[in-house]
Amino acid sequence: MGYSAGDTKKGANLFKTRCAQCHTLKDGEGNKIGPALHGLFGRKTGQVDGFSYTDANKQKGITWDESTLFEYLENPKKYIPGTKMAFGGLKKEKDRNDLITFLKDATA
Ligand code: HEC
Repeated sequence: MGYSAGDTKKGANLFKTRCAQCHTLKDGEGNKIGPALHGLFGRKTGQVDGFSYTDANKQKGITWDESTLFEYLENPKKYIPGTKMAFGGLKKEKDRNDLITFLKDATA
């Protein structure tokens, strides 16, 4: 089981309620508690200028795409042991699919 395209509107709502307090989406919006997500797809872990990542996040060394996000967002602390991202995870596959579908456009 892996990523399949979901519902952008539901994804936007999930972002607003679960991620937006810590992350921005658009170019130039900058870092908050978490790094800016603009340009996320195709980027390696830990690459946002001016954001102070944990070594765990920096050294994970994978490229963010639909499938790595699908796994990460289920349980961030399991995918990146030692991360300081305080988020328990989205356990429902449908929620992850909806959110990732939204993020693909919204971070581009
Ligand atoms: C309470 C604040 C907080 C919330 C809520 C949060 N994050 Fe994060 N996020 C962080 C922090 C802090 C980091 C950096 C972690 C580190 O350096 O260990 C991070 C890292 C990330 C990364 C890795 C970025 C990179 O450049 O490697 C992604 C992707 C991400 N978050 C996506 C999300 C998504 C999507 C959500 C909503 C489901 C979310 N986050 C919810 C704070 C948060």
